[in-house]
Amino acid sequence: MSDFINGFWSYFIACIALGGIAWCLWLLYTQRRWLGKRPTAGPVDDTGHVWDGDLTELNNPVPRWWTWMYLLLCLFALGYLLLMPGLGAFQGMLGYTTADEVRRHQAQLAEQVKPVYARFETMTVPQIAADPAARQIGERLFLNTCAQCHGSDARGGRSFPNLTDADWLYGGTPEVIQQTITHGRHGIMPPWKASIDAATASDIAHYVRSLSGLAADPIKVFRGQREFGNVCVACHGVDGKGNQALGAPNLTDDTWLYGSSEATIVQTILEGRDNRMPAHDAVLTPEQIKILTAWVWGLSNMSDGSGGAGAPEAGPAASQ
Ligand code: HEC
Ligand code: HEC
Repeated sequence: MSDFINGFWSYFIACIALGGIAWCLWLLYTQRRWLGKRPTAGPVDDTGHVWDGDLTELNNPVPRWWTWMYLLLCLFALGYLLLMPGLGAFQGMLGYTTADEVRRHQAQLAEQVKPVYARFETMTVPQIAADPAARQIGERLFLNTCAQCHGSDARGGRSFPNLTDADWLYGGTPEVIQQTITHGRHGIMPPWKASIDAATASDIAHYVRSLSGLAADPIKVFRGQREFGNVCVACHGVDGKGNQALGAPNLTDDTWLYGSSEATIVQTILEGRDNRMPAHDAVLTPEQIKILTAWVWGLSNMSDGSGGAGAPEAGPAASQ
């Protein structure tokens, strides 16, 4: 019921449910004389409808057992609404919720798979990353929970970081990766259009492009460098190499989250960026997060470089 912004719909639903039962009981009551009649051996009442010449429709009362069943069902409905959720926002006296049931079920499953994860409890991340069984689990977890954003080959896409390279927004040590998965990340680059005009943004963009050796106009680079020193160094650093504490990307390499064209960089400067990786502590158990951490770490640290990644051709294009 939390989807509703006020209590009206709760009462609305409760009224319909109780009203329906009251209506059934009222119907039974108004028919009491007729219901009280016992069926006789012969035809009691003839509706006067005759089909095929000799098929007469009678009007016998319904049997007693049917009346009792009708009454008992009404009582059952009232009892059900008292015990179980059904009357609008009223939780029911047993306090049953389907969410609880799912939680119980998940806890049960977690209990069942515990022995599978127990083996990895004492292992270090590099050891897990090298373990074939752990890699299989890691890949499956990744495909289920992460691939929709980072791609089935973990190479990411526009605004979704590539996890297979050694280039990190926040850091590539096991501890940092584990933090990222558990608590999520929120990378914010503030918009500058209030204080920087389009021409100046273009100058800065040329300077940013020059940092990674891309074609740039030297005069614009000269002007842009000054502005960069005023505004951008706070997060991206004097040398433009970024700041992992803020998730501010390194602007001197050829890895781009959004793109290296002048237009894209100008857009980033003027409009800012707001990028979010959701927390997974409610979706994955700590054991699963540890295995995923090892799998992601393995993507850029294992000698074969694969770390068990899915078919590369299946994922979106790399972020360049
Ligand atoms: C809803 C989309 C989404 C899902 C699902 C998602 N991520 Fe992310 N992830 C992002 C975004 C967006 C970022 C970049 C955040 C930023 O720019 O601050 C990110 C960043 C990261 C980073 C940091 C990369 C770096 O360079 O420091 C890691 C590691 C990561 N994700 C791993 C995972 C793993 C493992 C999963 C599955 C458990 C996952 N992500 C699920 C969107 C997602
Ligand atoms: C308050 C800190 C902060 C300031 C100041 C800042 N940035 Fe950023 N910038 C970020 C963060 C954080 C991101 C990553 C956003 C994300 O995760 O999507 C970013 C992303 C970018 C990107 C995208 C890089 C890519 O890989 O596509 C560019 C380009 C950029 N900033 C340039 C600049 C320039 C130029 C300035 C100065 C006008 C500037 N930034 C000022 C924090 C900042």
